[in-house]
Amino acid sequence: MTKPASTAAAGLRDVVAAPSSICFIDGEKGLLVYRGYNIHELAEHSTFEEVVYLLWNGRLPKPSELDELNAQLIAHRQLPAEVMAMIKSFPKNVVPMDALRTTVSALAFYDPERSDNSLDANRRRALRLTAQFATVVAAIDRIRKGLEPLDPKPELSQAASFLYMLNGREPMDVEAKALDIALVLHADHEFNASTFAARVTAGTLADMYASITSAIGALSGPLHGGANEQVMKMLLKIGSLEKVEKFVNDKFAAGEKIMGIGHAVYHTEDPRATYLRRMSEAIGKRQGDTKWFDMSHRIEEIVVAEMNKKQKPIRANVDFYSASTYYMLGIPIDLFTPIFAVSRISGWTAHVLEQLGNNKLIRPRSEYTGEMDLKYVPIDRR
Ligand code: COA
Repeated sequence: MTKPASTAAAGLRDVVAAPSSICFIDGEKGLLVYRGYNIHELAEHSTFEEVVYLLWNGRLPKPSELDELNAQLIAHRQLPAEVMAMIKSFPKNVVPMDALRTTVSALAFYDPERSDNSLDANRRRALRLTAQFATVVAAIDRIRKGLEPLDPKPELSQAASFLYMLNGREPMDVEAKALDIALVLHADHEFNASTFAARVTAGTLADMYASITSAIGALSGPLHGGANEQVMKMLLKIGSLEKVEKFVNDKFAAGEKIMGIGHAVYHTEDPRATYLRRMSEAIGKRQGDTKWFDMSHRIEEIVVAEMNKKQKPIRANVDFYSASTYYMLGIPIDLFTPIFAVSRISGWTAHVLEQLGNNKLIRPRSEYTGEMDLKYVPIDRR
């Protein structure tokens, strides 16, 4: 019997599964880097569209290259009429992540280059999917509310056009900027569960729709992208700042986790949380009510102090303050995870392209813990 080379840690923690030049994380230093650029540089100075170019091409675009990408993204935002009709046929109480998963899978039927799995065709596919995701998510939300979906606005950025399609009004600059930064922050995160799922599927040479559908499924879980929804539900359940302390203490007493806190890789501040914390506070101040920010901040303080006492330092992750930020932007709670996907589609597709550029089927081994050499007993003698 061929023995596996080694047994990995539970959950593959700290196992390096493959080389990649897309994203680097140093969990001890709280460092997140896309293609060589620190996330702080990108969050301060860049836009989502520029980050999309960076992830796909490995370098920042020149002005004409960014113009070309913007034009291409705008040109491909519309969905095939058949797909829009299909979304209209979904039950009204559909879970948006389920609807997104099903819609992306169906987009494969209408791919103009269905039988071409070349790298060039996949680059064009990555562009179409990234352009279409916001339209899909906004359409899912409007249709379930009995509203007509709105056409994307070509003069608006991906972030602003998305908010327009969702709310039926053009967003204020501060709102569009907040979402744009959130999209930059969520665009990639190395071999997280959904990206790894996408790469595993791409590694079989299944098409990009199969890879992205796998990724959406993985993202939907509460231990991954679903955590931000749970955070907002928790804040609503607590209801007010005075009730935070008891709620958190009760959670600790029951041995339950607080959603949006802790990270499998970061052992210090998640650099994305730094911006979302700031945004949550800024939007609250601008709207004249910092209740959701104040509650979040108090929860964070208590959990950090308690875990420090136990010598298990954990901090807020990307999901913790994105919850109150999105809520204050008027985004329905069950769209928080789909919005994560509106951004992460850029990283997923970058990883699928990288995987296909130097493909090797991903096929680890298990450590068998079952029995051996059992004798078959016929069913009437068991
Ligand atoms: N609340 C309270 N305690 C937590 C916690 C949280 N959110 N996250 C971790 N801990 C505790 C664990 O109970 C564990 O303590 P123990 O050793 O006494 O059992 C310790 O911290 C280590 O946590 P563990 O779950 O083993 O770490 P991990 O690396 O496997 O988990 C997460 C990382 C993200 C799965 C985990 O922190 C979590 O479930 N967080 C909440 C969900 C979430 O926000 N997910 C989004 C991630 S971006």
